[in-house]
Amino acid sequence: MGRKPIIAGNWKLNKLTGEAVAIVEDIKAKLDTIDSANLPEVVVCPVFTALQSVSNILEHGKNIRLGAQNFYYKDSGAFTGEVSLPMLKDLCVTDVIIGHSERREYFSESDEMVNLKVKAALANDVTPIICVGESLEQREQGITDNHITSQVKKALDGLSAAEVCKVVFAYEPIWAIGTGKTCDAVEANRVIKMIRSVIADVSNSGIASSVRILYGGSVKPSTIEEQMAQSDIDGALVGGASLVAESFVGIITGSMKSRV
Ligand code: 13P
Repeated sequence: MGRKPIIAGNWKLNKLTGEAVAIVEDIKAKLDTIDSANLPEVVVCPVFTALQSVSNILEHGKNIRLGAQNFYYKDSGAFTGEVSLPMLKDLCVTDVIIGHSERREYFSESDEMVNLKVKAALANDVTPIICVGESLEQREQGITDNHITSQVKKALDGLSAAEVCKVVFAYEPIWAIGTGKTCDAVEANRVIKMIRSVIADVSNSGIASSVRILYGGSVKPSTIEEQMAQSDIDGALVGGASLVAESFVGIITGSMKSRV
């Protein structure tokens, strides 16, 4: 199949710098005992204020990559309070989360802003992890597929096929985030396959089959094997369970056991 799994931890608004460093030290020590050929790609996304300290303890290029949860799409200028991609790259950030449902809901991040951010990330050679997903209300109304199709198309608007190739998607049903209610693995796989077919429509099937698409929403060590046993789920974007080294490492190791 050839798509290398990715396990990314989204720490959201949690952890002071000292705590962040302690968790990453712990994750790093645990992963160092495993042959890297048996590991997925691993990304940790702490809050901005912890990025420098966490960056200092990571051996970049080895086992764990550094991600950011947000950024502004302009490189510099009169944008009080914002942080840009060159600034994040300065701290060795390689991945950025874009369009998380919490940013869409609480910070009015629109599909247009998501698209600008995706383009900026690609222009800066940073991997965009683009989040899409439906609310419970949308699921109950039967508009899940239409809603997600629209989010995916708008996120990729104006990108060349070569650029589409470099993005990562995360399917995160909003009703599964932080609720302990994981989306059934077969259903998550169905939606992810549908996302892949939308990617094929806007690029081509070869590119669509190479793009990594993760699942997010109450992922735990006990759910990851069934999720990774599905044909199209290429990893996980993990919230709560990534805040504890033991459970995050359990997800990382579990992700490679059932990979099809
Ligand atoms: P939980 O794993 O806490 O449900 O959060 C998922 C998420 O929002 C990751 O971005």
